[in-house]
Amino acid sequence: MQRTKIAELIRTEPVGTEVLVKGWVKAFRNNQFIALNDGSTGSNLQVVVDFEKMDAAILDRIKFGAAIGARGTLIESQGKGQRIEVVASEVEIYGDCNPEVYPLQPKKQTLEFLRENAHLRFRTATFAAVFRVRHALAFAIHKFFNDRGFYYLHTPIITASDAEGAGEMFRVTTLPFDGTPRNEAGEVDFTQDFFKRSTNLTVSGQLEGELGAMALGDIYTFGPTFRAENSNTTRHLAEFWMIEPEVAFADLEDNMNLAEDMLQYVIRYALENCADDLKLLEDRLIEEEKSKPQDQRSELSLIEKLRFVLDNQFVRLTYTEAIDILKNSNPNKKGKFQYPVEGWGTDLQSEHERYLVEKHFKKPVILTNYPAEIKAFYMRQDDPKEGVPGPTVSAMDILFPGIGEIVGGSQREERYDRLVRRMEEMHIPAEELSWYLDTRRFGACPHAGFGLGFERLVLFITGMTNIRDVIAFPRYPGNAEF
Ligand code: 4AD
Ligand code: MG
Repeated sequence: MQRTKIAELIRTEPVGTEVLVKGWVKAFRNNQFIALNDGSTGSNLQVVVDFEKMDAAILDRIKFGAAIGARGTLIESQGKGQRIEVVASEVEIYGDCNPEVYPLQPKKQTLEFLRENAHLRFRTATFAAVFRVRHALAFAIHKFFNDRGFYYLHTPIITASDAEGAGEMFRVTTLPFDGTPRNEAGEVDFTQDFFKRSTNLTVSGQLEGELGAMALGDIYTFGPTFRAENSNTTRHLAEFWMIEPEVAFADLEDNMNLAEDMLQYVIRYALENCADDLKLLEDRLIEEEKSKPQDQRSELSLIEKLRFVLDNQFVRLTYTEAIDILKNSNPNKKGKFQYPVEGWGTDLQSEHERYLVEKHFKKPVILTNYPAEIKAFYMRQDDPKEGVPGPTVSAMDILFPGIGEIVGGSQREERYDRLVRRMEEMHIPAEELSWYLDTRRFGACPHAGFGLGFERLVLFITGMTNIRDVIAFPRYPGNAEF
């Protein structure tokens, strides 16, 4: 007999038919009612056993966490709390679960405890919901780009370049630590390394993505990226997934429109396709916030917050305008910012981004035209503008409530001379990026793109509060468990 998944049973409700269900025991009440979950949905199926007829040895093995199969008749439920249930004629135990030693317990366990037991945490209702939503979002992103005629380009994981020029790379090498070969100058001799050169894990697929866009038109990448930055925060990971579209014949405006459309599309997709999981996550968040003082709780529930993003256009303003707002803001005047906003040119800290989004505009914000000094070499240089103290680039960052920066992107510098000059200023050797510069030598065109941090998106949509809880096996300073 074919097994039916619980999600399918709930959808079709084939009452009166004989079914076979398989899953894990979430609860067993009165030696009679099993709450069974198979991961296909957050909803449990009630399986009713007749303890008088059932083999006592089997009955005794129906424990929280055990894997079982049950065969029986699907009926309309007599009890409250569920519409259907299975009256079992037969129960089979696939895997026992000894409650004395099983780390998970049928009660609330802290997210910290579950993070340490990340190999088991998928089995909790919260994490199962998070990872179902994460899946749906990945699927929605592919669908969004595919429907718009973008091609999915697989850019390399191992690379010799530092796309962001920030030097936050994990080295990839097979050279021995003891007796590392050195050249006459005493430097490590990478010509003896596996790739005969120094290599690292990619921090971004953008530069290779641009090569693709210069022929295919519209491409996107969606893959793991790595940053060896020592950021121990609830928004940073050392290994995270990034989505990077790159669009030929596009400018900053097109880029912002694309990013806004994409974000709204995937949020709508989640609302339409993950309603049950989002409801569960919303309830979780309400519980979590009960431990906070009233004024720190969110004004909107999770689902209201998602709808709010759909119903409101993102506010667009320049970095220069944002600095003005921040300089004159109450927290700045009263010395409430940890990093006081002194003047034009400094990078924004997350407290500043969150002030703009959560307090000042109360909407997602797109900041544009940042000072060139604080942005990457490849961004397009703006013409000087009255009232703007220094050179800026056609950059855009999208800031979300509770998250801060969720997207970073720009129009690219397509003018060869300008790009080379900027690379010289930033001490980026042109010979190492000659392949990249070829796109500016041969058939260059205006183009633009951005990077969306996938985990930051999942964080926002699930209402979880720590980025380590929305990726299966988080990597961060001091942790590469599993
Ligand atoms: O702003 P970033 O560094 O931009 C780039 O890498 C560009 N090459 C993107 C492009 O234009 N194609 O990173 C983009 C996004 C950030 O906005 C953030 O959402 C996420 O990636 N991100 C991180 N997410 C988790 N952990 C980290 N350490 C992250 N660093 C960046
Ligand atoms: Mg950025």
